[in-house]
Amino acid sequence: MEKMEAKRRIVLVPVPAQGHVTPMMQLGKALNLKGFSITVVEGKFNKVSSSSQNFPGFEFVTIPESLPESVLEKLGPIEFLIELNKTSEASFKDCIAQLLLQQGNDIACIIYDEYMYFCGAAAKEFKIPSFIFSTSSAINQVSRCVLSKLSAEKFLVDMEDPEVQEKLVDNLNPLRYKDLPTSGVGPLDRLFELCREIVNKRTASAVIINTVKCLESSPLTRLQHELGIPVYALGPLHITVSAASGLLEEDRSCIEWLNKQKPRSVIYISLGSIVQMQTKEVLEMAWGLANSNQPFLWVIRPGSITGFEWIESLPEEVSKMVSERGYIVKWAPQIEVLEHPAVGGFWSHCGWNSTLESIVEGVPMICRPFDGEQKLNALSLESIWRIGFQVQSEVERGGVERAVKRLIVEEEGAEMRERALVLKEKLKASVRSGGSSYNALEEIVNYLKTE
Ligand code: UDX
Repeated sequence: MEKMEAKRRIVLVPVPAQGHVTPMMQLGKALNLKGFSITVVEGKFNKVSSSSQNFPGFEFVTIPESLPESVLEKLGPIEFLIELNKTSEASFKDCIAQLLLQQGNDIACIIYDEYMYFCGAAAKEFKIPSFIFSTSSAINQVSRCVLSKLSAEKFLVDMEDPEVQEKLVDNLNPLRYKDLPTSGVGPLDRLFELCREIVNKRTASAVIINTVKCLESSPLTRLQHELGIPVYALGPLHITVSAASGLLEEDRSCIEWLNKQKPRSVIYISLGSIVQMQTKEVLEMAWGLANSNQPFLWVIRPGSITGFEWIESLPEEVSKMVSERGYIVKWAPQIEVLEHPAVGGFWSHCGWNSTLESIVEGVPMICRPFDGEQKLNALSLESIWRIGFQVQSEVERGGVERAVKRLIVEEEGAEMRERALVLKEKLKASVRSGGSSYNALEEIVNYLKTE
């Protein structure tokens, strides 16, 4: 108790991407409410401190990456992360040394995003407990454990055999080898290298995951077995605390527009903060949405159509049709949109945050995963929880129209919504007193108080 009064400090190290920053800041806020002081350490690529007004009392510290920005920016995401880790270790150690001097050696824990594994070295050197924080699903972590044990060369050869592709991954039914998240993220050997780095838990005392036991019970059990350290599932964090850390400005006018639509009639389309689309796919989407005759709210991020600033590549007739039947924004208040009674379905790339946010509002989904672990999330939504279905990656207008009708108008969509509403209640119960995520957070807090 005495230690709590002195407000022990927790150091958070997020990865520079919206889908990672948001849950990390939610975790920070949850721990702050439990009596800890929070310091956020970010590299110059992060911009979390730009929303510091939403986190009163938090301290923000920037460390320099020693590789020039011009070099880092040319790298693909996997190489970027590997290089970022190589170049940040020393400056992070200096930063922790400084913080220890300022804090009278009282840092309770370093909590770092799984991709920021350079933090492990400083935790070890200064003998500070550390937790790894994962912002994606447990099934993704288990898939990584599987990939980390394989050789990229052998995997490529083996996967030429259709029988291997269809083979189920041990104890992870319905996951097949061809579902493992290897596509679209860069060279396979570098991906496997990154998986090995992430799975190597170094000196971390535990792994915290923004997931929920009732959604991912068997991957969580398998993960605990693979890693051999406690795994805490304390999601969905956005129900426990709201912590706006938007790196883009939300356009709230879409809520006014939603207010004028019929209950459960609107399909909401958003592909998260990273995905890029080609003009052809955007045009097919536009025609398919218009032909479905359902109102739609469509987030098109600036720069998300390859080669264009925004939607200037759309022909005038398409822009006109889209504005007559739907509403386009650059960035929406997504959670508020999903909880709006007019929203009947979510067309999503199945990022893990979007997946959790949709389930929490009981909104069924059309799954259009692009790469990496989004395909795993789509598989869970379709085959395990049965609250969504996947569309072909080659999007064409007829398929878009059919998918929207199937989800919003047809009986099958209504059944998915019913199942989503059941899951919604389970997730809400998990963060209430006595629920699995509530208990996990309590356990973490007790550990940090007594360490
Ligand atoms: C990335 C990966 O793609 C994802 O698979 C991984 O799980 C986390 O990192 P991202 O692509 O941005 O994330 O998707 P997602 O995880 O869904 O996160 C997007 C976040 O942006 C959500 O919290 C969502 O609420 C928010 N958002 C999105 C908005 O607030 N407004 C928008 O208009 C769109």
